[in-house]
Amino acid sequence: MTRNVFALTGAGISAESGLGTFRDTDGAWARFDPMRLATPEGFAADPVLVHEFYNHRRRDALAAAPNPAHAALARLETELAERGGRLFLCTQNIDDLHEREGSRHVVHMHGELLRARCTACGTEAVWHDDLTVETPCPHCGRSGGMRPDVVWFGEMPKHLDTIDEALAEADLFVAVGTSGAVYPAAGYVAQARAFGIPTLALNLEAADNAGMFEATRLGRASETVPAFVEEVLGERR
Ligand code: APR
Ligand code: ZN
Repeated sequence: MTRNVFALTGAGISAESGLGTFRDTDGAWARFDPMRLATPEGFAADPVLVHEFYNHRRRDALAAAPNPAHAALARLETELAERGGRLFLCTQNIDDLHEREGSRHVVHMHGELLRARCTACGTEAVWHDDLTVETPCPHCGRSGGMRPDVVWFGEMPKHLDTIDEALAEADLFVAVGTSGAVYPAAGYVAQARAFGIPTLALNLEAADNAGMFEATRLGRASETVPAFVEEVLGERR
């Protein structure tokens, strides 16, 4: 009986909620240069452009609605906890759709679009409004230093130790809607294999690291994730 599930989600789980992915043909990185928009150097060079990019994504995220895949993982968290097990939900996504659909423990390894951080005093705050170079820090009052609390390329992802510990304790690893293109997230399937944990990918198309998974089920997350959850809970063969 599967009791401790480690789920890694990526942009594909939010695609049917209307939020774009990064590496699909119409993805963000096909239209914009990630080095200008998602690096500390890009932010230093043109903070107005970077704020505009994230303000647009923040508004989209707030306007989006979770989909059945988010709901299924929220249900899995509740049901496994009732059975004395656990769902460890690690997401690369910076939207809050998992939380809005009821997931209580979400580990955002790439940070959160709906939080901001002051580079002058380090204060972090929930943030749903636009950010600009004039936005004053709610703590130290200085403006010009507020940034989205997201992890850019070249920066250290968050909660890595917690993630590694959870991976070692899992008895099933599932990746949903991720291309397996960005490390360390893309390497978690190899770690799971090394721990002897069964690995499953639920994706629209084969991920870059598809060969590492024992099984891949192709399809839309809004269909494959609910079916997966029913299987784990013994409601479907
Ligand atoms: N259902 C399931 N999977 C889907 C769906 C869908 N409806 N739509 C797209 N996908 C899959 C695509 O086939 C692709 O494999 O989701 C994956 C999205 O891949 P990416 O766009 O690369 O997103 P992700 O893997 O989350 O990117 C990882 O890269 O740019 C950084 O920080 C950013 O967190 C992001 C990281
Ligand atoms: Zn400050």
